[in-house]
Amino acid sequence: MPIEVDSLYPAHLTEVRRRTDRALAAHGFDGLVMFSGCAGYSFLDDRTYPFRANPHFAQWVPLGDAQQCFVGYVPGQAPLLCFHQPADYWHKPPELPTGDWLREFRLEVLRDPGSARELLGLAGRRIAFIGEWQAGFDAWGFAAVNPAALLDELHYHRAVKTPYEVECMRRASVLAARGHVAARDAFRAGASEFETHLAYCAAVGQRDEELPYGNIIAFNEGAAVLHYQHLRRERGVPRRSFLIDAGAQFRGYAADITRTYAADDGDFAGLVAGMDALQLELCAAIRSGTDYRDVHLLAHRLIAGLLRSAGIIDGDPDEAVATGLSSVFFPHGIGHLLGLQVHDVAGLARDASGGEIPRPAGHPYLRLTRVLEPGFVVTVEPGLYFIDLLLDEARGRDHGRRIRWDAVERLRPYGGIRIEDNVVCTAGAPENLTRDAFAN
Ligand code: GLY
Ligand code: MN
Ligand code: MN
Repeated sequence: MPIEVDSLYPAHLTEVRRRTDRALAAHGFDGLVMFSGCAGYSFLDDRTYPFRANPHFAQWVPLGDAQQCFVGYVPGQAPLLCFHQPADYWHKPPELPTGDWLREFRLEVLRDPGSARELLGLAGRRIAFIGEWQAGFDAWGFAAVNPAALLDELHYHRAVKTPYEVECMRRASVLAARGHVAARDAFRAGASEFETHLAYCAAVGQRDEELPYGNIIAFNEGAAVLHYQHLRRERGVPRRSFLIDAGAQFRGYAADITRTYAADDGDFAGLVAGMDALQLELCAAIRSGTDYRDVHLLAHRLIAGLLRSAGIIDGDPDEAVATGLSSVFFPHGIGHLLGLQVHDVAGLARDASGGEIPRPAGHPYLRLTRVLEPGFVVTVEPGLYFIDLLLDEARGRDHGRRIRWDAVERLRPYGGIRIEDNVVCTAGAPENLTRDAFAN
């Protein structure tokens, strides 16, 4: 029986309010206003960029496409949602929100966003503004705009997801897994990268701009480009490998999933199987109290071991990590916090008052250095790539002598491998949202 997501929302809002009350008191504010934002225009054009609501607004209100709306909150009072519904015959005005969650709010519908000024009760109070500032707000009388100390505190605590948020991510994972299966089948049936992308979107039921990030759909050598952004139209290319990094969202919460497929049996397929096994080992390490930097370093040791057993490097795996050799093949972090933002905020935060926990020396791209707590949702995404730029650089270095170049030449046309799951840290065993969703 699926969990009813709406039934989890009141407790979610209670927790968000509790965190907000504490942060407002600590930083001397009487309340806050969260502005959803408005779509920006292309230079010299009357076309807008895709819109994405301010994540602070989205944590309170599941309306990811609501522009020029406000949530006003003063501790002790029900939050006020000022919902902008313009009179417009060029576009279809947004429909009034519905849903159980709305019971927690006072609702005001605005034809003109400027009328929020009176409704938000700013006079005589120290109200902080969070969102993209608009010149029109200059005279409204906010006490502070995106005050850093308040944001630091809210961001720090956002790493711990409420049961409602985890359920949203479970559902995003189910949608994304459906897309991944459709994309894999399209690839196997001979579709182009572009057609594979379309098959993905159709199965998920989300168009490009609704997805949490641009799909990475890479065949062959393209899989060596970490954020490969093209969608080639050609069908006739020989198929050796397929890397897909693609997500989905549910009520603004993201899934971020990667799979890699070999077109036929052989060395590359063996390498994919080896990565899958070590990826599961890393997922099992997502335990409360574990320093995520240790998960990253464990990933390096395991990948170095796989590179050696596959005959791609020589020597001791620990030495390969210490000399930077493993980073030639695995040049990104093992993962990151996931939530309303794909790379969710405060991954490096030392505590609620800001400051950073440093990355391990020699690992500049790790996005999460905190000790894991129940409620953290993280990605676990080991990778192993044949990247010309990094291999060419390694040739001139000492550790390059450990690389078996004949094996590299054989595997280079396959691009690379990444396997990425979304994992919830709990008080006990981790919950793997992605593997569960594929098994669904
Ligand atoms: N899809 C972006 C990432 O995996 O971090
Ligand atoms: Mn990803
Ligand atoms: Mn990721």
